[in-house]
Amino acid sequence: MSGLNLVKKNESIMKVVSSVGAFSLKAKDDQLEIVHIEANAGKSLFLHPYECEGALYLFYIIQGRIFHRKTKVDLVMGDCISAKDLRETEYFDIIQDVKMLMVTQKDFFDFQVDYAVKMSEEIQRIQDKDHYTEKHCNRTGNLALQMGIVLNLESDALNDLLFASKIHDLGKINVPLEILNKPSKYNDQEFDIIKKHSEDGYQMIKANVSEKIALIVKQHHEKCNGSGYPDRLTKDELLLESRILAVADAYDAMLSDRPYRKAMSKDKVLAILEQDRDVLWDGKVLDTLYKIED
Ligand SMILES: [Fe+2]
Repeated sequence: MSGLNLVKKNESIMKVVSSVGAFSLKAKDDQLEIVHIEANAGKSLFLHPYECEGALYLFYIIQGRIFHRKTKVDLVMGDCISAKDLRETEYFDIIQDVKMLMVTQKDFFDFQVDYAVKMSEEIQRIQDKDHYTEKHCNRTGNLALQMGIVLNLESDALNDLLFASKIHDLGKINVPLEILNKPSKYNDQEFDIIKKHSEDGYQMIKANVSEKIALIVKQHHEKCNGSGYPDRLTKDELLLESRILAVADAYDAMLSDRPYRKAMSKDKVLAILEQDRDVLWDGKVLDTLYKIED
């Protein structure tokens, strides 16, 4: 061995493709990982403080365009993002398909990519069934994550919350499309079929993800006063992550056009949620939504 490695452009130590894009591990040793990333326009990149704790991340843009929301700075070919010990989450929008080289001191590939792949496989199953559900899960996941950050959840809890939120309605792939897209209110029999989706989602994923993620999915329609489903659990029996997801889910659903009703205004949705503070929804969780949306 000469210590030299020549890596042709289609070669990598490992490559995975997720809903965000393609990640190719080009080189690694005990301290560094060098990853080629191709990510698609329309997606978002998040850099969280817990990811960057004690480790440097450097993204060198080879092609495309990324927009940093907070500073409104456009980043293009030759520009870099570097992060270490971030104080808050940073958001980037991918404006044009982007190619980047990422250098990090973290064990990024094994953890983040494995996680992203598992998540994207589940998301694909939803996408194949119904586009509203896929988009709703995506928006709900991003909002639930922001709420979890405001509530100072630990990094593991944030990861579980994001994963569970992005696939929370997976069980709807068992619901016939004529019910999912029915242009009028569900009758009791149809509603009973819909209500199976949280338990079904739990059963579908429990062998592939942590018990915690599966439980968040199972509990996303439970309510603080025990009037939810499938197990009629009450506030103290529910995971905090499930109470966050429940609010994010209801908020996004009411803001969206559905076959049986028009989208409601933000003010109206917030007023409806507030009416059921500490009855259906955890008041502490509602307060985080107001902080984010005000
Ligand atoms: Fe649901």
